[in-house]
Amino acid sequence: MSELTLKDVSYSYDKKKMVIKNMSLDFEEGTLYAIVGESGAGKTTLLSMLSGLTKPTMGTITYKGQNISKLNPYSYRSKYVGVIFQSYNLLPHLNAVENVILSMDVSRKKIPDKRQKAQELLRSVGLGEELWDRRILKLSGGEQQRVAIARTLAFDSDVILADEPTGNLDGKTQNAIMDIFMRLVREQNKCIIIVTHSPEVAQMADVKYELSKNSK
Ligand SMILES: Nc1ncnc2c1ncn2[C@@H]1O[C@H](COP(=O)(O)OP(=O)(O)OP(=O)(O)O)[C@@H](O)[C@H]1O
Ligand SMILES: [Mg+2]
Repeated sequence: MSELTLKDVSYSYDKKKMVIKNMSLDFEEGTLYAIVGESGAGKTTLLSMLSGLTKPTMGTITYKGQNISKLNPYSYRSKYVGVIFQSYNLLPHLNAVENVILSMDVSRKKIPDKRQKAQELLRSVGLGEELWDRRILKLSGGEQQRVAIARTLAFDSDVILADEPTGNLDGKTQNAIMDIFMRLVREQNKCIIIVTHSPEVAQMADVKYELSKNSK
């Protein structure tokens, strides 16, 4: 079943140039997608539209058949679609565990022991125990990236959108994160859409979409 569908979607930041032109795409459950293409091709713009943060200039985007512009943006971006941004959007003065717990509160899912669940998620993305109670401000870029991934996993949404989720990670951690994504797709039937510059990551996806600057 289709989770997200783009129909004749175009986007321009200004009248001169179309960043996305007449795009029709289908994203299905149980599938891992990679969006690739050179810098400036419109990958982040596409993800931003799928997240509902940016409205298409033309065309429509539907989630399970409903136009996303008609859905409550807050529940859309927590219950249905989780987003891992290129800039992590973490709360810098809270620690790693608190950032993950906050997402559970936002999604309003019933979780008996939130702290324990948050720690499990942080462990699964390879963040060492000694860092769990450290403020985000005092973590490295790659460590913050892992907290951002754990936070999005905490939403337990049907769809995960991730902009360069492994961009700041070493090869071993990148593979661990990709394993988590692949398991979520196979075992929980999630739809995961990853923007990446890494050929290795793109190769692990079930479907690859390539955006180019020249086709506009
Ligand atoms: N707020 C904005 N106003 C005007 N133009 C913008 C804005 N944001 C992005 N653009 C332009 O739109 C185009 C697509 O940008 P986008 O961020 O989607 O590219 P990208 O494929 O994600 O690139 P990268 O791989 O570098 O992250 C670029 O030419 C960019 O300069
Ligand atoms: Mg980008």
